[in-house]
Amino acid sequence: MKRISLLVAMLLAGSVSAAPKADLAKGKNIAEKVCAACHAADGNSGIAMYPKLSAQHADFIIRETKAIKEGKRTTGSSAAMTPMVQSLSDDDIRNVAAYFAKQTPKPGEANPKQNPDVGRKIYQSGIPEKHVPACMSCHGPSGAGTPGGGTAVTAFPRIGGQHANYVADQLKNYAEGKRVSPNNMMEDIAKRMNEDDMKSVGNYIQGLY
Ligand code: HEC
Ligand code: HEC
Repeated sequence: MKRISLLVAMLLAGSVSAAPKADLAKGKNIAEKVCAACHAADGNSGIAMYPKLSAQHADFIIRETKAIKEGKRTTGSSAAMTPMVQSLSDDDIRNVAAYFAKQTPKPGEANPKQNPDVGRKIYQSGIPEKHVPACMSCHGPSGAGTPGGGTAVTAFPRIGGQHANYVADQLKNYAEGKRVSPNNMMEDIAKRMNEDDMKSVGNYIQGLY
């Protein structure tokens, strides 16, 4: 009994000493001064090479921003972002991530000429004959993902409304081992997809909200 109450006391102490709340006003200032040129001030970038950050989970934004800052993620044009974020402290990154996480995403649109139904099937049911699981099972029916319990394995990024080409490019990056995911989750999936599968599901995701 004593041991249990000690444990409870330790847990309570832990939650009290948790990181201080992010400062959204400071985050907005950084977003406008540093990130807006590429990702737009509210994170709803209109250019396919710059991913949308609006309503993305803060933990995911922090992790990827640090990976790009430290040169660990070099996919696409991320090298253009590396010098822009060099002077940001961990607190700056935490604040700007919290700010983007709170922005309202603008819904995108799938290209009707590229048969979004093909991509919808992959998203909702996977590709059973290739053992590709439904994207929905981790990223959610509306693509909102889950912030998770704060561990890399339980957190799934938001992908709903993301640019079609960006999604297809990232799938290719995972398949080619240029990006790594916790437990190789995305590598295993992307390696089983061909380029048409990647483009189809990307087109559907662009219109998903
Ligand atoms: C010079 C343009 C530029 C600036 C400025 C910039 N970024 Fe980026 N960012 C990029 C590009 C390009 C990518 C995509 C790289 C790729 O294709 O893999 C990216 C990717 C990201 C990602 C990964 C998103 C995902 O869905 O995987 C995050 C998070 C991010 N940027 C955050 C920020 C933040 C926060 C700032 C401001 C502090 C910022 N960026 C400033 C160009 C920029
Ligand atoms: C088993 C769970 C799981 C399934 C199923 C899954 N994903 Fe993911 N996905 C993840 C995780 C975890 C990440 C974060 C990886 C990282 O840290 O780079 C991710 C990342 C991504 C990203 C990069 C997001 C970004 O903003 O950088 C894309 C795009 C993506 N997934 C698309 C898909 C598609 C399309 C499918 C279905 C064919 C799919 N995922 C199925 C777990 C999953």
